[in-house]
Amino acid sequence: MEKRISLTQYLVEQQRKHGHIPGQLRLLLEVVARACKRIAISVNKGALGEVLGSAGSENVQGEVQKKLDIIANEVLIEANEWGGALAAMASEEMDSIHVVPNRYPQGEYLLLFDPLDGSSNIDVNVSIGTIFSVLRKLGDHESVTERDFMQPGTRQAAAGYCVYGPQTTLVLTVGDGVAMFTLDREQGSWVLTAENVRIPEDTKEFAINMSNKRHWDAPVTRYIDECLAGTEGPRGKDFNMRWIASMVADVHRILSRGGVFLYPWDKREPDKPGKLRLMYEANPMAFLVEQAGGAATNGRERILDLQPSKLHERVSVVLGSKNEVERVTAYHHEAR
Ligand code: AHG
Ligand code: MN
Ligand code: MN
Ligand code: MN
Repeated sequence: MEKRISLTQYLVEQQRKHGHIPGQLRLLLEVVARACKRIAISVNKGALGEVLGSAGSENVQGEVQKKLDIIANEVLIEANEWGGALAAMASEEMDSIHVVPNRYPQGEYLLLFDPLDGSSNIDVNVSIGTIFSVLRKLGDHESVTERDFMQPGTRQAAAGYCVYGPQTTLVLTVGDGVAMFTLDREQGSWVLTAENVRIPEDTKEFAINMSNKRHWDAPVTRYIDECLAGTEGPRGKDFNMRWIASMVADVHRILSRGGVFLYPWDKREPDKPGKLRLMYEANPMAFLVEQAGGAATNGRERILDLQPSKLHERVSVVLGSKNEVERVTAYHHEAR
């Protein structure tokens, strides 16, 4: 078997070969990866570690916070604030940004994260994850504000996620393709197990929460009905369905074998464009999916081109196998 390389060696090679990542970014990614290892330890303790169940508080999204939402958030804050690579952080679980305290040097990056994705799966032992996105701090002004985070996804310097499943796997892009690292628990190290990941342009597998069908807009209903019509229908092929309800796990499946994931607008909350958050769910996942040859839109526009106006902004998400995403997007444009 060929020699497997570590995350550190992969990042050093990215730094040396492609000039893709300055030293500060390499340090930042190593710190985030180490934080994910610590979160994995808490996740894997389950009922033995007082980490299950609700924390009895509510986050800015109006969701009841799970204990692990808060534990993961604290691990990421504590791990990242002293390193000198960051100016500030933003999280699904925090109302506003967390500026690096004055006692630490301020770096040139901004880190955004969904510390624990798939919270409804925590207490039932189904795969969950952590999603992160790295932006550069623009301008040289000292006091970082929320406005510094209002950058489209095309400006991301890096993005990734860690899926806490049967394996603990870190998936990362710095703009030079997608690499996957599996945690070797005996050594506590991240080992490169896949690189230049490619999503097949076609698929027979869709992921959507079917229980919301009566609330969807016409283009989504049209697309899913055609998938359900199978070989007798206009698609001329049978489709399979998967819905794990952890975006990280659904996206990991799509990066691993193709598929299309949809969390569309629905009329339950007509004033919100969708359930998922642009800055720390849709943007990092869209960057990864595009780097693997897939596509990601909000049904009409490319997600990475969207100009955010609020930190916790919501968005509709259609991502995965390019030809399927383009079909769903075309149906939205036809319906205009
Ligand atoms: P989070 O747990 O970080 O709030 O995210 C949950 C999201 C996403 O992971 C998943 O795809 C979606 O919510 C599932 O939504 P439903 O439970 O409505 O299916
Ligand atoms: Mn949540
Ligand atoms: Mn999430
Ligand atoms: Mn979350």
